[in-house]
Amino acid sequence: MVITQHISTPEIMEAWGKQIALHCPNRLHIHLIGELGAGKTTLMRGFITALGHQGIVKSPTYTLVEPYHLPEHQVYHFDLYRLADPEELEFMGIHDYLAETAICVFEWAERGGDVLGIPDLVIELHYQTISSRQLKITAKTPLGMKVIAMLMP
Ligand SMILES: Nc1ncnc2c1ncn2[C@@H]1O[C@H](COP(=O)(O)OP(=O)(O)O)[C@@H](O)[C@H]1O
Ligand SMILES: [Mg+2]
Repeated sequence: MVITQHISTPEIMEAWGKQIALHCPNRLHIHLIGELGAGKTTLMRGFITALGHQGIVKSPTYTLVEPYHLPEHQVYHFDLYRLADPEELEFMGIHDYLAETAICVFEWAERGGDVLGIPDLVIELHYQTISSRQLKITAKTPLGMKVIAMLMP
C-alpha cells in the first residue's frame, strides 16, 4: 500500500506529520528517507507537536537520538546523518530502543543498515522545487498498512 502526495508548503508537510501522529500506534517504526532539506525534520515537527510536545523540534544530528516523553507515547527521534558505521548503533544500545514500546523514527535510516530491522512505514521525501516536495508513504508491515489505511484521502 502506497500514498503519494505533492506537498507545496512546509505547513502542509507539518500537517501530514500531524495526521500520521493522530493514527500512530505505540511501537510504530518509521524510516524517513530524503536528501538534506527534503523536509524530514519538518514532518517530524508536526508529528511530535501533535503528540503533545511543546517547544522546538530539531534534528538530533550530533546526539543521534532525541527522546520525547509525551502524554501517551514515548517517541525516539533518530538522525543517523553523521553515523560513520552502523556499529555505533550497537554501542548506543539500539536493540533496547527498538524493543521498547515506543515510536521510533529514523532520519537517514539507510545509514543504519539491517540493524534497524523492517520498519512499519517508509516515508520518502523528494525535493522538487524550492518550496515543493513529493511525499511517498509505503507500508511494510500489517501495522503499517493499518496506519496507511486511515491516512487514505
Ligand atoms: N513543501 C515543503 N515541505 C517541507 N519543507 C519545505 C517545503 N518547502 C520548503 N521547505 C523548507 O525546506 C527545509 C526542510 O528542512 P528540514 O525539514 O530540516 O529537512 P531535512 O530534515 O530533510 O534535512 C525547511 O527550511 C523548510 O522550511
Ligand atoms: Mg533533519
